Amino acid sequence: MSSASSVYASLRSIGAYAPPKVLSNCDLETMVDTTDEWITKRTGIKERRIAAEDEFTSDMGAKAANKAIERAGIAKEEIDLVLCATVTPDYFNMPSTACIISDKLGIHNVQAFDISAACSGFVYLLSIAKAFIESGMKRNILIIGAEKFSSIVDYTDRSTCILFGDGAGAAIISATSNKSEAIIDIHASADGAYADFLVTPSPGSVHPASQSSLDEGLNFVQMKGNETFKLAVKTLTNDVIAILKKNSINTEDILHFVPHQANYRIIKAVGDALKMSEEQVVLTVGKYGNTSAASIPMAINEIYESGRLKKGDLMLLDTFGGGLTWASALLPFAGETIQH
Ligand code: UT7
Repeated sequence: MSSASSVYASLRSIGAYAPPKVLSNCDLETMVDTTDEWITKRTGIKERRIAAEDEFTSDMGAKAANKAIERAGIAKEEIDLVLCATVTPDYFNMPSTACIISDKLGIHNVQAFDISAACSGFVYLLSIAKAFIESGMKRNILIIGAEKFSSIVDYTDRSTCILFGDGAGAAIISATSNKSEAIIDIHASADGAYADFLVTPSPGSVHPASQSSLDEGLNFVQMKGNETFKLAVKTLTNDVIAILKKNSINTEDILHFVPHQANYRIIKAVGDALKMSEEQVVLTVGKYGNTSAASIPMAINEIYESGRLKKGDLMLLDTFGGGLTWASALLPFAGETIQH
């Protein structure tokens, strides 16, 4: 056996940040033709957080990252790769938000780059970090999912503005020789045939920024909500069944099922199809809405900070987003249980 094959990747810590400003359903009632009742019934969302005007994706990402680094008990100098998943970067398209976050953290001369996988971004990053570590190329990787989604939401479009919120989550993925701490498996996939389900048309090479692109609102997220909903339920369920089967793990072995927090009805349909109990399913959609790439790490952070997530607990992550992309991951929490 080569030395590289005895190195495993583990999720050593988690951190998150949610901006303090709350946008409630009642606030939205005054902005578009909607009601608290409709939003609650159709999505389970009661409120979401909105970043301040001068608070950017990198600021939120850096705050979440600082917590993850502190909780991992490592020095910043030990981090040898910084990865950020976002579809709302500080700049379209350079410098990357990962580079800006690195600078804000005081991490210099270290490889850093962004990926674009929408809501699946954090689980995609887990797969990249796992590969870098298992190949022996890196030892401590900072991964971040951060979004200022409010920067691409049209607050006159009731079909999208009720769903999304801002926030960030981060984790340290470290090399370990202890197999019981290792990320067990990750499935990540995509199908560009459904690219038009979730799109921000401009700016980009198809629609470079122009007065007409702004007049047409092409800088805002556009979504085929109902089609996305149906495909999300099917894909999320099938992906979980496949990853559990492949690893001979039963649903009841999962202590925390952490689905992408897009819509309570999607989570409920998937949870029911998989026969998950209420105790197993992690829910934050009610208070944060859909924070895209930040949704999964923010949800993990929620159970970590409440003391529900303990060292060694088996987690199942399951996500779905623009691209279309989807991914699931099976992993134990390899960090220390929080002490209150
Ligand atoms: O994270 C990325 C993945 N994204 C998702 O997973 C989002 C998936 N989609 C969804 O969550 C749901 O499709 C929505 C919550 C966006 C919409 O729920 P829906 O049950 O699929 O509603 P719909 O789009 O079929 O619309 C039903 C009705 C329409 O009215 P008519 O045509 O039946 O008269 C809409 O105009 O609801 C209307 N509607 C609203 N009414 C009040 C749409 N948005 C609103 C609103 N308030 N905010």
